[in-house]
Amino acid sequence: MKDNLAITATGLVKRFGDRRVVDGVDIAVPMGAIYGVLGPNGAGKTTTLRMLLGIIEPDEGHRSLLGHARPREASDQIGYLPEERGLYPAMKARDAIAFMGALRGLDWREGRKRAATMMEAAGLGHAVDDKIRKLSKGMAQLVQLLGSVVHQPDLLVLDEPFSGLDPVNQERLEALIIAERDRGATILFSTHIMSHAERLCDGLAIIAGGKRRFEGTVAQARGLLPQQVHYVPHNNAPGLLSLLPSDATREGDGWKFIMPPTGIETLLSTLIGAGHGISGLSIERPGLHDAFVKIVGPAALEAAQ
Ligand SMILES: Nc1ncnc2c1ncn2[C@@H]1O[C@H](COP(=O)(O)OP(=O)(O)OP(=O)(O)O)[C@@H](O)[C@H]1O
Ligand SMILES: [Mg+2]
Repeated sequence: MKDNLAITATGLVKRFGDRRVVDGVDIAVPMGAIYGVLGPNGAGKTTTLRMLLGIIEPDEGHRSLLGHARPREASDQIGYLPEERGLYPAMKARDAIAFMGALRGLDWREGRKRAATMMEAAGLGHAVDDKIRKLSKGMAQLVQLLGSVVHQPDLLVLDEPFSGLDPVNQERLEALIIAERDRGATILFSTHIMSHAERLCDGLAIIAGGKRRFEGTVAQARGLLPQQVHYVPHNNAPGLLSLLPSDATREGDGWKFIMPPTGIETLLSTLIGAGHGISGLSIERPGLHDAFVKIVGPAALEAAQ
């Protein structure tokens, strides 16, 4: 496979009417990676995933999926959780999982066997023989997820897999994604919940207004923002403010400011020398949430114009 990439896409364009809802997106997902496609509502994430999978055809651009220029040729090696969920309501949960596996070439009996084991491991052992219509929305979503991995695909594509799940099931899903990666699968998922992406992703693309605004690692995205210092003095005696960087603002008992370009040491010696002391100090890189807002903010403003 080209350069060990599970997915490559260059210059993907999709027009609906006269709108270019995906407008020249490039994506490269390494084999064995957990890769996130992030972006606000309407950014073009689902449309991009559908083009990658060959569910819809791009108007422009090229893509390759597990080495296939026609994505549908890789169908049996792929698992997919679409944004619009749906299972047959009259089917039993384990049959629904086995059925999804059978659609991707898995033996029916083997699928039913795996389904029972997987449901047990996912905390759904009690619902193996329940009909889908009896399950809660979140439980049905988990069943559909298990159905998308039961045939042990090489590539798993999940569109907003965390939405609609309670915190315990969100953790279970994170564990399932990591287990799939450890099994050797490549995982591509879309989300606008930054915390999951921050914990899981080896790489990510941020899309807004149909364009890719960022590609890299979580650390690289966070590195776009300066470190924040939170400093708590022993005493806030008059004169302290004049020693702090000009952006310093009060926070709790202390002060918050951006790390000075010269570092923190000189500033701390000055503060100690002037008798303000240090009762607390933390230096933090802002999280992916802030990086996302910084990257996507200008795009949202452009879209509003
Ligand atoms: N079949 C379609 N016909 C017309 N417009 C469409 C169609 N599918 C999507 N769009 C439009 O394309 C844009 C991108 O939609 P898309 O579903 O790809 O966004 P998204 O990033 O997945 O958003 P969300 O986070 O809400 O799921 C939206 O403005 C949407 O209205
Ligand atoms: Mg979507």
